Amino acid sequence: MTEGPDGEGLPVDHYYSARPRSPSERGQLRFLYRGEILTFTVDRGVFAVRALDPGTDLLIQSLEVGPTDRVLDLGCGWGAVGVAAAKAAPQGRVVMVDVNRRAVRLARENLAQNRLTNAEVRAGSMFEAVPGERFDVIATNPPYRIGRPQILAMLRDAPRFLTETGRLWVVGQGSQGILYYQHKLTEEFPGTVDVVARHSGYRVVRACRSARPTDRAR
Ligand SMILES: C[S@@+](CC[C@H](N)C(=O)[O-])C[C@H]1O[C@@H](n2cnc3c(N)ncnc32)[C@H](O)[C@@H]1O
Repeated sequence: MTEGPDGEGLPVDHYYSARPRSPSERGQLRFLYRGEILTFTVDRGVFAVRALDPGTDLLIQSLEVGPTDRVLDLGCGWGAVGVAAAKAAPQGRVVMVDVNRRAVRLARENLAQNRLTNAEVRAGSMFEAVPGERFDVIATNPPYRIGRPQILAMLRDAPRFLTETGRLWVVGQGSQGILYYQHKLTEEFPGTVDVVARHSGYRVVRACRSARPTDRAR
């Protein structure tokens, strides 16, 4: 993805640009989830355009979602996590949020492409898109490149958007500071914070809101 000056001399067209300027060049991706092939339309100007990101893959494969859960996919990109969660929660509801308008469009298309009607995609920044709502699961492969203060703010805000027994799932690499963020989560969450999966330098951290998590292992 190119970076260049926009009209105000600011860098533009990161994967988290609100309105990517790179010309569209659509493609198709697919992956297996719970025995079903999910298919996706992807495009330039959106995160992980060539293949499913390995961190996202690890998050999806370890994420526990119950059939009636309300799930928030924070920073949904083209929708890998939210689409999988919607498959796992046929009687639940999934809300997917992204600042990148091209990602929002793709995620909507990908819900339709996978015949899902129990999910919606909203354009917006972090929790501003879900005021007053609470979720059983918040899942995110965060946009680490937006900066540590913003990621910390997101982690600090998360408990307010979880149900009493809700869980936040975060994936990241050592080079992205996941150990640091894991430590910060132990300060923000009264419940257990643990590592539920590790692979190739990535780890998936689960933080439970409740001091005595039911954990609801499924
Ligand atoms: C690392 S990517 C993950 C995308 C997708 N969930 C995946 O795993 O393939 C992070 C996503 O967060 C989005 N993002 C960046 N800043 C955001 C913000 N303030 N609020 C919501 N989403 C944001 C980016 O546009 C990007 O799609």
